[in-house]
Amino acid sequence: MSVEQLGFAAPAIDLVVVDADALQRRIRELGAQIARDYAGRDIHVVAVLKGSIAVVADLLRAIDARVSVDFIAVSSYGPQSLASGAVRLVKDLDESLEGRHILVVEDVIDTGLTVNYILRILRSRRPATLEIATLIDKPAHRLIDLPIRYVGFTLPDVFVIGYGLDFRGRYRNLPYLATLKPAAMS
Ligand code: PRP
Repeated sequence: MSVEQLGFAAPAIDLVVVDADALQRRIRELGAQIARDYAGRDIHVVAVLKGSIAVVADLLRAIDARVSVDFIAVSSYGPQSLASGAVRLVKDLDESLEGRHILVVEDVIDTGLTVNYILRILRSRRPATLEIATLIDKPAHRLIDLPIRYVGFTLPDVFVIGYGLDFRGRYRNLPYLATLKPAAMS
């Protein structure tokens, strides 16, 4: 990608991991696959804030089927407590899940603790089916084995920003996935 295409973040970007075209192509593929898999069934997407904002916005439009969406937000108490699975519900869903076909949409699954916590909450609400879609699967530090139905990209243990993913709240608006230069993270 050219410096112009990198936009305001160009000085901070180390490597572009997935460019905007490749992201959109993969999202379209996932959307088509989901529409096929759920043929004849309404899909209720549960998007996990905030990182999933970009992928859910594009994925919804890539699914040619009847889809509704709701949002949930959780927060960890920091790395140590996350390792113990301590996750807190910050924003609950607005709608009931009972009897519905639920597709949880995440930006990244790393240890798996966050989505595992969310699945426990959602399962207790008796959905008809419950599946997971993630833009990025980072299996290197997985602590909990999860059946992830839809994966955009499997990445090694690299810290990526853009397309919803942040560093200290910024860079979520980039249309590509990239790594930051060490100097940009100090
Ligand atoms: C990220 C991501 C997942 C979680 C994955 O959220 O959106 O929810 O971390 O990590 P895990 O598999 O190790 O639990 P983050 O805490 O960065 O919040 P954000 O989505 O609001 O940026």
